Amino acid sequence: MLRISAFRLLGRTGASRLSLLEDFSLRHYSSDPLGVRDDTRDARAYFTTPIFYVNAAPHIGHLYSALLADALCRHHRLRVPSAAATRFSTGTDEHGLKIQQAAAAAGLAPSELCDRVSAQFQQLFREADISSTDFIRTTEARHRMAVQHFWGVLKARGLLYKGLYEGWYCASDECFLPEAKVTRQPGPSGDLCPVSLESGHPVSWTKEENYIFRLSQFREPLQRWLRGDPQAITPEPFHHAVLQWLEEELPDLSVSRRSSHLHWGIPVPGDDSQTIYVWLDALVNYLTVIGYPNAEFKSWWPTTSHIIGKDILKFHAIYWPALLLGAGMSPPHRIYVHSHWTVCGQKMSKSLGNVVDPRTCLDRYTVDGFRYFLLRQGVPNWDCDYYGEKVVKLLDSELAFALGGLLNRCTANRINPSGTYPAFCTTCFPSEPGLVGPSGRAQAEDYALVSAVATLPKQVADHYDNFQIYKALEAVSSCVRQTNGFVQRHAPWKLNWESPVDAPWLGTVLHVALECLRVFGTLLQPVTPSLADKLLSRLGVSATERGLGELHFLPRFYGHPCPFEGRRLGPETGVLFPRLDQSRAWLVKTHKT
Ligand code: MSP
Repeated sequence: MLRISAFRLLGRTGASRLSLLEDFSLRHYSSDPLGVRDDTRDARAYFTTPIFYVNAAPHIGHLYSALLADALCRHHRLRVPSAAATRFSTGTDEHGLKIQQAAAAAGLAPSELCDRVSAQFQQLFREADISSTDFIRTTEARHRMAVQHFWGVLKARGLLYKGLYEGWYCASDECFLPEAKVTRQPGPSGDLCPVSLESGHPVSWTKEENYIFRLSQFREPLQRWLRGDPQAITPEPFHHAVLQWLEEELPDLSVSRRSSHLHWGIPVPGDDSQTIYVWLDALVNYLTVIGYPNAEFKSWWPTTSHIIGKDILKFHAIYWPALLLGAGMSPPHRIYVHSHWTVCGQKMSKSLGNVVDPRTCLDRYTVDGFRYFLLRQGVPNWDCDYYGEKVVKLLDSELAFALGGLLNRCTANRINPSGTYPAFCTTCFPSEPGLVGPSGRAQAEDYALVSAVATLPKQVADHYDNFQIYKALEAVSSCVRQTNGFVQRHAPWKLNWESPVDAPWLGTVLHVALECLRVFGTLLQPVTPSLADKLLSRLGVSATERGLGELHFLPRFYGHPCPFEGRRLGPETGVLFPRLDQSRAWLVKTHKT
């Protein structure tokens, strides 16, 4: 949009030129560069990951869920600087039949298995720089209290009744299934065994007296909520899918199991013969974290954004909002849904032996490198495939060569011997192409670059709002390419600092490129926090100058002073991101996936 107005300036009369120019500078040099409304600046935000089952060690799919939430949360913090305004929780889901069975199979007490695997998740998230503010384990006393209180509210509101429940149960997915969702597959002994149509996991027939939640009463309220808030579930295809499900029958939901069958869980208050259904237990974690049932939780609910994988959409978009409505609360603000990672075209599974260990990946590709890969390649709308060569190719081309090369080209001693942020010369690069005079050196493509980078923060923010982080990274990457093109076009290495003709333009070329890099560094903070820190430190950008509110790109072009002009660059001159392909021979041999 800006590009168009910049070029249109060429053919305009003086008066309209001025008004367009004002429009140009106002839009891109305002006190609110992102165009976020004032009321959202103070808004609190609460981001959550799903809580992870502790039946097995974490894999890259789990890390992806956590990274998406981390990037959203970090981006929000850049928008709203007050740290107190943001909360970010993750944790482990430790009850239920699945964990009870996994512990028995491992010959461990359930609590031992939980301690062991929960610690693995905590360690992974620390290593991967997940900036969560809370880690919850469902075996904690505070959680038991919250779940039992929540149960009591549903009971008091007449939403629970006792009845005979008969149907298929899938322990791996911890869910009940109607006959239509069950198929038969040959088992290990060749006999046909019933399995879930969706996940392929075995199911078994259950018939018992349980507590049942009046889910059927909530079909219309759920439809009203979703129709009234089309972005409640993002991306849109998932919103649409939930509305489709709500067109079908919505039977009541069994929310407890016989304790003799399931002992590893939270007992139903006042009835020890029943254990609360693990999904009800797990979903309430989002309230436990913010202090429920104490009144403090109300300052965080419902400013909640849940980040979840597509396999758990029904639990978050139907059961959870219905339970909340039943307990007299609002549904969550947003549910962001992502798809899955496959490995070399196959679903990741223990039995196939193709589960990718995320800690090995962090070691191999660096923390920021692997974060960048998963978020740059992960597309929420559909499944993505992982294999090692793809990681190396992407990181070498985008981080090592394009971004690292650009930084090096503009800061290397031989090109920038003063080691400072050079001055911008307004006659070399006037604020509109039509004003380029005899000493002007800027070309049409250079104005296109300025337009692209000026609009980048807003574009990136929009992609974050739509949960399309990969598109935000694609946009940054495309601007990095454009900036490299700019540097290549003007070949500052051919210009001479000693020449009075070359020097102002040489300074301007470097100034523009460094300003672009400052924007890229700022925008990359949510995805590659250490790399962005290194980049911004090298540019001499202080910790208080890294928020989106302070991100005024190329102020000299818009007639404003630039606080960086003449400033010394930071002392750290090391490589921004190491090339990985030097180890390619080793990689192909030892790391087929
Ligand atoms: N414990 C439940 C969630 C309860 S939330 C109240 C659960 N746990 S899980 O460990 O099985 O999954 C946690 C998250 O990891 C889910 O969002 C799931 O979609 C995600 N992933 C599991 N496998 C995945 C891939 N292969 N790829 C991407 N994400 C995947 O469900």
